[in-house]
Amino acid sequence: MEQTVKTAEIPVRILRDGGTIPVVGMGTFGSDRYTPEQVAEAVRGGIQAGYRLFDCAACYGNEDKIGVVLEEAMEQEIVRREELFITTKVWNDMHGKGDVLLSCARSLRDLRLDYVDLFFVHWPFPNYHAPFCDGDSRNPNSKPFSVEEFMGTWRQCERLVDMGLTRYIGMSNMTIPKLEAVLPLCRIQPAAIEMELHPCFQQPELFDYCVRRGIQPIGYCPMGSPSRPDRDKTAEDLADMEMPEVQAIARAHGIHPALVCLKWAVARGQIPIPFSVKKEQYIQNLRCVLEDPLTEEEMERMKSVDRNNRLIKGQVFLWPTAQTWQDLWDPAGTICQ
Ligand SMILES: NC(=O)c1ccc[n+]([C@@H]2O[C@H](COP(=O)([O-])OP(=O)(O)OC[C@H]3O[C@@H](n4cnc5c(N)ncnc54)[C@H](OP(=O)(O)O)[C@@H]3O)[C@@H](O)[C@H]2O)c1
Repeated sequence: MEQTVKTAEIPVRILRDGGTIPVVGMGTFGSDRYTPEQVAEAVRGGIQAGYRLFDCAACYGNEDKIGVVLEEAMEQEIVRREELFITTKVWNDMHGKGDVLLSCARSLRDLRLDYVDLFFVHWPFPNYHAPFCDGDSRNPNSKPFSVEEFMGTWRQCERLVDMGLTRYIGMSNMTIPKLEAVLPLCRIQPAAIEMELHPCFQQPELFDYCVRRGIQPIGYCPMGSPSRPDRDKTAEDLADMEMPEVQAIARAHGIHPALVCLKWAVARGQIPIPFSVKKEQYIQNLRCVLEDPLTEEEMERMKSVDRNNRLIKGQVFLWPTAQTWQDLWDPAGTICQ
């Protein structure tokens, strides 16, 4: 089957050491709705379509199925390893001494790879919740953020780079106060930070903070995650694709509002990692970043769509003395204890 987009056509961003990463990738979290098999099939179709960046994680429960697809694609010479950019993440129950290496080794085994390109600390807390749990569940052993504990986890990530098991390391779900505390302590700086980014949640301060430090923002839930797990849905949530400005721009370009979100993301400078198991959608999601960009005026108008509307609130990670989910995100500008 002919590739929809050739590898050389996909624009890239330059990471801090001069290495490259595609401007758009494919997410692989099935949101408790799509099976590992369905996600792996999307990865298979995604590789055929021309995706080269895949955002994986141990806790998505599908790396073994994705690994089969990656191995086949390389054996059949559809893609070479060095053309792929594969990320994975250590889950919250694997932050302890020696556990990060174990988590990485398991992901590499499941993904059938010798190395990943980027290894993330998924959440900056060792606070575990079971897959498929509901939004009210709390783990009594959960703790607030600790610089010392986080650095223990990060040191292990640095060792993964030393050992050649990952090319880059990154953090996810961080805040500026947490970054201020840990970045000066890092021997190896994060190449990228994964964060929630979509038109109604633009996080301009955190975004600028990362860019100023040569850290590439990777944006999750780029279209406002309409199929996110029910535990992550609340009455205050807005739907990005239904915002009047987004819909007006979509009409002007004759495209689906989802694609406005992605064109905006790429033009702004973050790397969106849209998820879809639907072939028509994931092909559009890749193609749209190559053609018909938003105008400067439309990019300006998109700024006004921001409502500071966080969707993935993380409430299941709260520690017993925390007041609200906001405490996870340090709203007062200091690390919340
Ligand atoms: N680091 C973290 O903590 C973290 C957290 C969350 C997510 N992520 C990553 O980010 C990825 C993306 O996030 P997400 O899946 O939550 O949100 P998303 O990509 O914003 O939304 C995905 C959903 O949007 C719909 N969609 C996709 N393409 C479309 C199109 N062209 N037209 C219309 N609708 C379209 C689909 O809904 P239907 O299926 O209903 O059609 C799809 O399931 C995840 O897969 C994961 O890799 C990371």
